[in-house]
Amino acid sequence: MSVPVLIVGAGVIGTAVACELTRRGVVCTVVDNRDPGGGATQASAGMLAPYVEAHESGPLLDLGIRSLALYDDWIARITRDAGLEVEYRRIGTLEVALDAHHAAELRATGASERAVTRTWLDPAAARSSYPALGSSAGALFTPAHGYVAARQLTAAQAAVATQRGATFHRARVERIESGRDHVRVLTSTGMLTATHVVLAAGAWGSDIEIAGSGAPPLRPVRGQLLHIGWHGPPIETIIWGPECYIVPRTDGSLLVGATVEEVGFDERATCAGVRDLLDAACDLLPGAWGATFVAVYVGLRPAAPDNLPVLGPDGHMPGLVHASGHYRNGVLLAPVTAHLIADWIVERKRDPSFDVLNAGRF
Ligand code: GLY
Repeated sequence: MSVPVLIVGAGVIGTAVACELTRRGVVCTVVDNRDPGGGATQASAGMLAPYVEAHESGPLLDLGIRSLALYDDWIARITRDAGLEVEYRRIGTLEVALDAHHAAELRATGASERAVTRTWLDPAAARSSYPALGSSAGALFTPAHGYVAARQLTAAQAAVATQRGATFHRARVERIESGRDHVRVLTSTGMLTATHVVLAAGAWGSDIEIAGSGAPPLRPVRGQLLHIGWHGPPIETIIWGPECYIVPRTDGSLLVGATVEEVGFDERATCAGVRDLLDAACDLLPGAWGATFVAVYVGLRPAAPDNLPVLGPDGHMPGLVHASGHYRNGVLLAPVTAHLIADWIVERKRDPSFDVLNAGRF
């Protein structure tokens, strides 16, 4: 079978790229050996918080800000076209300091940032605004931040792409190689060919043999995420502490994430992971000790050696395009990645970020 664009990976990135390409009239096939969103995406709390995740100016902060700016329109269009609900709220983040040193750091961060509103709350103000909080040394509120339900978003993106003619093919991709005027993709169910192949396979992309250049050296970084039923005072913002973050969902439950573990391709939930997250959650919200345990999810984030995304055309294989290595920010960066990859494939428009984030940097 030959298609114009073959996307390897049906996570939040692969389905976002399929959505944007099909919107521009490009026929796509998405290949994955899991259901859409069945990899790292299903264990994501869907945080949209570039000013917390990127601690310094650089390509990650730039892309995060660009992607956050696309989010309102992206969600409006996807939910309208899919006819599906996607929980998406810009309720801000509250970074909580538990000691004076961290408080001083956060205050300095808040004061130095000119491009976005950030408000420092002293301990009394933090407690009275957020009664569920335990004692703190103060907190920095960033109202622009938010979250999106990552599994719902990915399902909606897959639905929209399907409506527009994309097909989803269940297979494991083993090898990618150049053919004459096309790219050949050897899968567990046979050979596929395409004019462009977008590699968005997450950490598993590093296992794919890429003839000539080799796959980007991505490593899996395990994240465990707790889901708990909350019975305390309502929580109206995302709470971000030194060892965990807490996302309040509209059904009153909380997501508590996430461990950061270098344990290879091990997708087990562990007692240590659950205990560490519960301890960290209780440091911020003492009432978490009496919460109902609902579930634990586990995902493998795809991380490059410099923890930055791998984006843009491959330097060796014509037609191969990278969209991987999003590490902690796949959900945040999905809209901007989809736009940049579609701009390249459809219009040959090369975003300046490709100069820094290309696969050839390794
Ligand atoms: N974006 C948060 C995480 O990866 O845990």
